[in-house]
Amino acid sequence: MSDTPLLAVEDLEVRYGAATALRGASLSVRRGQLVAVIGNNGAGKTSLMRGLTGLVRPSAGRVLFKGEVVTRLPAHAMVARGLAMVPEGRLIFPDQTVEDNLILGAYAQGGLKTRRSKETLERSLAVFPRLRERLRQPAGSMSGGEQQMLAIARGLMAEPDLLVIDELSLGLAPRVVEQLIGVLRDLNRQGLTILLVEQLASYALAIADHAYVVAQGHVVRDGPSGLLARDPEVMETFLGKKKAA
Ligand SMILES: Nc1ncnc2c1ncn2[C@@H]1O[C@H](COP(=O)(O)OP(=O)(O)O)[C@@H](O)[C@H]1O
Ligand SMILES: [Mg+2]
Repeated sequence: MSDTPLLAVEDLEVRYGAATALRGASLSVRRGQLVAVIGNNGAGKTSLMRGLTGLVRPSAGRVLFKGEVVTRLPAHAMVARGLAMVPEGRLIFPDQTVEDNLILGAYAQGGLKTRRSKETLERSLAVFPRLRERLRQPAGSMSGGEQQMLAIARGLMAEPDLLVIDELSLGLAPRVVEQLIGVLRDLNRQGLTILLVEQLASYALAIADHAYVVAQGHVVRDGPSGLLARDPEVMETFLGKKKAA
């Protein structure tokens, strides 16, 4: 069924105790798309990401991946089904080598035992040649940009059908963010479906096909990125940008 979205999120709700971080959020991602979720700090983007990837149990709503209901499956089961995630803050293991961090990303494939996973490692290192030079170094010795490269490469090691990335730009200089945005655009052009969660809307809108705007725990708007980028209400009311153009 070609009209079945790769990912469909329906009326998702995420709570932390008595606090509701996300209410009634719906979105869909089709194969081959690069979809962005944008919104200010505290809007509920990470809660949406955690709820749909199985890192937290949603209190209401459904998640469908490849047409199957996967709501409340744990994150490792989602990875095995083809949904890999690059979490906010990267969460690499700083004391382990770059190579060992990458091998952990291939956990669902049985580590680096198979020829196929060795080929996947080669492909991931071809995307980020810098990591090849640093394979034996502790991951924590690298710059923030290199650590984000590692976090993305670790996600690629799972051979995902969908790669979800939360706050690509966090703590990185604009030049580094631009470089990483270019890599995501290339990966998408090569066929990888990407869901990019990003506070810096202009970067995400520059490469996304479609975007969702999250504000105060709600998906308040969605549309083609080009339209949203030119929409003054989106930029001023929801993203607090005073006249970005
Ligand atoms: N673990 C948590 N416990 C309690 N409240 C949380 C937790 N994580 C996030 N929140 C709250 O949920 C709301 C949404 O946060 P979050 O999803 O992290 O937003 P964003 O990723 O858009 O910055 C915020 O009010 C935040 O303070
Ligand atoms: Mg966040």
